[in-house]
Amino acid sequence: MSSYILAIDQGTTSSRAVVFDASCGVIGLGQQEFAQSFPKSGWVEHDPEDLWRTVVEACRYAIATSGLSASDIAAIGITNQRETTIVWDRQSGVPIHAAIVWQDRRTAERCRALNDDGLEPMVSEKTGLLLDPYFSATKIAWILDNVEGARARAKEGRLAFGTVDTFLLWRLTGGRVHATDATNASRTLLYDIRKGSWDDDLLRLFDVPRSLLPEVRDSAADFGETDPDLFGAPIAIRGVAGDQQAATVGQACFEPGMIKSTYGTGCFAMVNTGDRFVASQNRLLTTIAYQIDGRPTYALEGSIFIAGAVVQWLRDGLGIIDRSEQSGTLAAAADQDQGVFFVPAFTGLGAPWWDPDARGAIFGITRGTTAREIARAALESVCYQTVDLIDAIAKDWPSGAPRSLRVDGGMVASDWTMQRLADLLDVTVERPVVMETTALGAAWLAGYRAGVWPGQREFSERWRLDTRFEPSMEMTERLDRVNRWREAVGRTLTAR
Ligand code: G3P
Repeated sequence: MSSYILAIDQGTTSSRAVVFDASCGVIGLGQQEFAQSFPKSGWVEHDPEDLWRTVVEACRYAIATSGLSASDIAAIGITNQRETTIVWDRQSGVPIHAAIVWQDRRTAERCRALNDDGLEPMVSEKTGLLLDPYFSATKIAWILDNVEGARARAKEGRLAFGTVDTFLLWRLTGGRVHATDATNASRTLLYDIRKGSWDDDLLRLFDVPRSLLPEVRDSAADFGETDPDLFGAPIAIRGVAGDQQAATVGQACFEPGMIKSTYGTGCFAMVNTGDRFVASQNRLLTTIAYQIDGRPTYALEGSIFIAGAVVQWLRDGLGIIDRSEQSGTLAAAADQDQGVFFVPAFTGLGAPWWDPDARGAIFGITRGTTAREIARAALESVCYQTVDLIDAIAKDWPSGAPRSLRVDGGMVASDWTMQRLADLLDVTVERPVVMETTALGAAWLAGYRAGVWPGQREFSERWRLDTRFEPSMEMTERLDRVNRWREAVGRTLTAR
């Protein structure tokens, strides 16, 4: 049997497909961007048909460029933007509403009301999450309450809910499989991550009928096979994980205490806590990192909503760069003495602040401020937000602050940003050779399950360092900068 694996990485701004060979080398790659829709302030939607079309096209392209055919591929692993919510008709497979994206804040009011009723401790105890519109449950209820006749159809069992992995699985298998994995289930606010099951109290609380829900499987499991017509031959689907969890696997963070931070649209830092559910005292999330052979491995997660998206905004919103790669050069040329601070709360603030109503702000602008200082403040905002996450993790995790941080995602290509990150964190930042970490994690889950890729230890040994960034900023300067950042955040938060 061959050991080629196709990883599908359906992200927030693009769909990617990557073909890996047995030594984790990339031999085929397809990528397609798709439209983002912002119908109202704080709302973010995707067209599920765009997600599906771009995934299929990216897969076909990746297979073609690898020089292989579908029958040469041992298995598919799927990884995806998490929490994003799709509800579709079981008969026709057609979604009844746009996908409500994880960044969407339309259910903030509902979350606030539940919070005011004192329900957050009960919800956190079961799910490890907080009452925030980020997660799927209130998004599902919103669709059922706002699409005419949806509640009635749901009660009759005619509708299905899924995060993006589930929707893709359904489509890839021609409607034969309605399933998800434990990592994606752990982001819905409906799944008890201690018991490993959908929870009736939560289903009642969020008013979500059980008939909508997919079956939950391990992250490395049998998820059926693709419809033969799609790629010319059926391909087995053997791995599924949310993208941040897949990156944790791709970075080989298999030991408790190992930590990674991924810079995609948002930034997500995750520390492996082994078989322990560590309840955060610092507004982090407890989540499932991966589930293999029925055993969940837990993680503490810090989630921030805007990382790469701030660079995208410099390009598309402000127009001060033509290509994302220019942001580091522009920032490096900035006047260091200007105290410009940029809080990119475009869709509220995530961990550890959790303020869905906050909106972005730039502080400290003078007549001397140019595009260079704005670019610098934008890139630094990603570093400062990571500082907030790592500080919270250090308080929650018994071994304290990590000595090193494995990084990945599009933004880590910028040496300037990574050095700044190391300086502001006062932690060594490690960038691996394989930057396709998210796809690699999904590929490993599938390859491992298919029996054609090695186990955890051998896979970990293959992790290779590209560049190590050592911190070199004076402590007093670092603390002064971080304090000024926190002051800026304080002025952005809304009084509740
Ligand atoms: O929780 C949202 C996250 O999964 C999105 O990841 O890579 O699309 O920013 P990304």
